[in-house]
Amino acid sequence: MISAVLPTYNRAPMAFVKGEGSWLTAEDGSRYLDLGAGIAVNSLGHANPALVAALSEQAGQLWHVSNLYRIPQQEKLAEMLVENTFADTVFFTNSGTEACELALKMARKYHYDNDQADRVEILAFEGAFHGRSTGAIAAAGSEKMVKGFGPLMPGFRQLKWGDHDALRAAITTRTCAVIIEPVQGEGGIRVVPDQCLKGLRDLCDETGTLLIFDEVQCGVGRTGKLFAHEWSGVTPDIMMVAKGIGGGFPLGAVLATENAARGMVAGTHGSTYGGNPLGCAVGAKVMEIVAEDRFLDAVSRKAAQFRQGLEGLVASHPQVFEAVRGQGLILGLKCKASNLDIVKAAYAEHLLTVPAADNVLRLLPALNIPEADIVEALARLDRAAARIEAA
Ligand SMILES: Cc1ncc(COP(=O)(O)O)c(C=O)c1O
Repeated sequence: MISAVLPTYNRAPMAFVKGEGSWLTAEDGSRYLDLGAGIAVNSLGHANPALVAALSEQAGQLWHVSNLYRIPQQEKLAEMLVENTFADTVFFTNSGTEACELALKMARKYHYDNDQADRVEILAFEGAFHGRSTGAIAAAGSEKMVKGFGPLMPGFRQLKWGDHDALRAAITTRTCAVIIEPVQGEGGIRVVPDQCLKGLRDLCDETGTLLIFDEVQCGVGRTGKLFAHEWSGVTPDIMMVAKGIGGGFPLGAVLATENAARGMVAGTHGSTYGGNPLGCAVGAKVMEIVAEDRFLDAVSRKAAQFRQGLEGLVASHPQVFEAVRGQGLILGLKCKASNLDIVKAAYAEHLLTVPAADNVLRLLPALNIPEADIVEALARLDRAAARIEAA
């Protein structure tokens, strides 16, 4: 008989009842060290007191009003994002997938309003993940996600990772936009080299193609910059944000330049819950904390400590791990043993990690994880690797 919860996930048996910082407490009272952070969502750890206060205060005042009215919390967060990024304007969503939908619509509308209505094709990359809506699965195009859900939304093409010639050849007078994660998350923590992002920006500029960055997983301080693309010095026309911006409260956003957003006039898009006072009050607090240079420097310091430890694990467990990948605190261990087996061995050590494609073990701790917890996480990973070796 089908379970009451639609069985679209292969869930581990633990259920958690409480969280504090980088630790989760399960129903049986045992504690787990969390290197998944809800897949890069709990950016400031569980039950962060500043976020709890921001949410509780707002909850006592006003939960929801329609976007038919001004929402000051939304205006405040939008202004913070505009001040701290390339963007001139922001639309709030409840998730990364919804941000993807708007990013795609915005790009097509831009060309439509530019009297180039046939510029509809959106180029994406093999291994990408942009969400689970019909638009997002058509963009990423992986067999696993699209099978059985046809007919697929037309106007998408996937290119090989790192094949610059193929990219240059693929951009035609029908190309609307290129969408790319500066650090691929689900695809196996693959960092796009700065040179490639620069080349992509140049190519888009030459051809009038819009450049969309998906920073749903790698954004909001995760790489040690507020947004991952800042390392490269290039900026997109449109950017998708979600996950970490809400610190655990469902919140997403599309950031855009005034030029890219010019087709999105009144009536062209909307959301009942997008930009609600609760989400935006929390998002503003997250931004207040994460956008600080001192906070971002600390992320880079913790990342360096973590990475060094991980390199040590690769050296001491060559049959289990192959290499360290990633940037900042979006880290991956390319595995030799099965990543799924290692995730299970880590569970046995009460350590939560997340598998990714390409046989990678993903490590996405809270950005403010204490150094002592990094040391503890490395010790638990070491023991998990020993379990695999002994098996
Ligand atoms: C890069 C990227 N884009 C989009 C999404 C979709 O976001 P959501 O699950 O919030 O809809 C994800 C989620 O994992 C993601 O990692």
